[in-house]
Amino acid sequence: MATKVLMVCLGNICRSPLAEGILQDKVNSDEVQVDSAGTGGYHIGSKPDSRSISVGLKYNIDISHQRCRQFSADDFEVFDLIYVMDKSNYRNVIALAQNEEHKQKVKLLLDEIKAQPNEVPDPYYDDNGFEHVFHLIDEACTIIADKLKNK
Ligand code: 4NP
Repeated sequence: MATKVLMVCLGNICRSPLAEGILQDKVNSDEVQVDSAGTGGYHIGSKPDSRSISVGLKYNIDISHQRCRQFSADDFEVFDLIYVMDKSNYRNVIALAQNEEHKQKVKLLLDEIKAQPNEVPDPYYDDNGFEHVFHLIDEACTIIADKLKNK
């Protein structure tokens, strides 16, 4: 059965849509299925932010078909791995966990590359942040894809 991975940020319009597109591009979709969600409900149904769509297209990752949805406690049952972009996302997701197994699924994305600081910065108010965010996520997803291939 395919491994199911969920990428989570606050809005599900900037960081986690890129993380979904980038990881899905690095794996076989029969083996790994990637989705994304936001802990906040501000943009439900919206396309990703145009700046995330643009930086993705620059590197041949098309995320324009994605639509924003909110993270829900049901996601703990559906997904094997839940990667969050920052510690605030971590707290918000963990707050909805019902047991230890749920909590164990939640990881900070940048802990995969032992980055310090280990948070993907929120680029929403920073037009120049999207390129940096893309590369941080890309580096982590390369490691995750390798791990999933060798599983
Ligand atoms: P994201 O960025 O969490 O990377 O999608 C944000 C997008 C929108 C908002 C906050 C963060 N917002 O407050 O609307």
